[in-house]
Amino acid sequence: MRAEENDLLTRVGPGTPMGALLRQYWIPALIPVELVAGGAPVRLRLLGENFLAFRSPDGEVGVVDHQCAHRCASLFYGRNEDGGIRCVYHGWKFARNGQCIEMPSEPTETDYKARVKIRALRVSEKYGVVWVYMGDRATPPLLPHFDWDELEDGHTLSVSFMMRECNWVQAMEGDVDTCHVGFLHLGAASPDDFEEGTINYYRQLPENLAPKYEVIETAYGNIYCAYRHAGPDQFYHRIGQFAMPFWTMAPSEPIDHIRARAWVPIDDHHSMLIVIGGPRSATTLTKEGRALPGTSAPIRFLPNTTDWLGRFRVEENPRNDHLISRDVQREGSYTGIQGIPIQDQAITESMGPIVDRAKEHLGTSDRMIVLTRRRLMHAATALRDHGSVPPEVDDVEAYHHVRAGFTVLPRDCDWLDYYNQRRAIWSDGTAEPIARKHRGSRQMPGQVA
Ligand code: FES
Ligand SMILES: [Fe+2]
Repeated sequence: MRAEENDLLTRVGPGTPMGALLRQYWIPALIPVELVAGGAPVRLRLLGENFLAFRSPDGEVGVVDHQCAHRCASLFYGRNEDGGIRCVYHGWKFARNGQCIEMPSEPTETDYKARVKIRALRVSEKYGVVWVYMGDRATPPLLPHFDWDELEDGHTLSVSFMMRECNWVQAMEGDVDTCHVGFLHLGAASPDDFEEGTINYYRQLPENLAPKYEVIETAYGNIYCAYRHAGPDQFYHRIGQFAMPFWTMAPSEPIDHIRARAWVPIDDHHSMLIVIGGPRSATTLTKEGRALPGTSAPIRFLPNTTDWLGRFRVEENPRNDHLISRDVQREGSYTGIQGIPIQDQAITESMGPIVDRAKEHLGTSDRMIVLTRRRLMHAATALRDHGSVPPEVDDVEAYHHVRAGFTVLPRDCDWLDYYNQRRAIWSDGTAEPIARKHRGSRQMPGQVA
């Protein structure tokens, strides 16, 4: 990939083509509890821009430019009052929609305040998240319609945030790179660690480290399947998703689960992983009932600070080598790094703030990564050159009944047929099946390509 292409793919600040593309979509930005009614405002950096988020005493959320329109003091020091935020330098007050509503330092007869506004983002609080719309449409599109309304009875949505110190694309690519699971996370495991004959999350992975892949373009992004032998007449399938512009679904659970992961750029060098989904169910234990070393460590968050980059950081970072233990690497886990999320974090941060993709040598296992990059770059240039907004921005139903997961199927069962059958069940038969376009012949594991 040439340097210009890498810039096109990764850079998201104002005026960049990819930044313009991302600004077409609603973006998950905060956890509602971060904003206390009448409490301290929060510095919010998104796509390389600095905002201030606050919850008015009446409970409504505002997200505005952090700088006052008068002489650009930061409203972070402002007073969160009824009706808006007041700059403490000269007392100008701004409503949640950005309108200046009080200007006590100016003569009242000029009504100068009516002509002064700061930028304000549209806000929505839903699915356990505060969403913002950074685009310039008068009426923003609808929120993406994932299956979050359709959790089984008694199950509730859980939401988590975690910051990563690298560009959003390389962070996201880790999620559509299913090949690494058998190495980075399970490289020290052997198939014998796990019970035979169960649809176990782990057993089939160390057994076959080079599965076959198929990737198919969809209305919302790309779907992939990695499949490998699971006994004489069966294949173990791992089906995952990329949904525009920064959503992934990883096959970390049985096929029906509902969990979407957003890789939101804070700026070009930092991203926030936001996971919105149902409860976990996959078993990760060995046949002796123990967790594999390195797979189940709790995530140790640092306390949030008020810094632009101070939210949802973890203890492990590039400056402490992600607390790698060489002893554990020799004798316990493959990496010596504690916890699957931290292993992912360490390896994508190790590539540098923005990986230089000119140095890569991609293989057959990277097809999903290649097609995901291509999808994003095509969408960004189509918007830049022709003003074409991707259809899923307005057709948010495209995200409905999109799920991921693993499953074991008989050898002669086609995974996409099976997925479409599940999709019909999730949707009571209303969802369009995913069509297999540009399909070559399906390869069988063990067959030479
Ligand atoms: S800088 Fe904010 S009121 Fe003067
Ligand atoms: Fe991973």
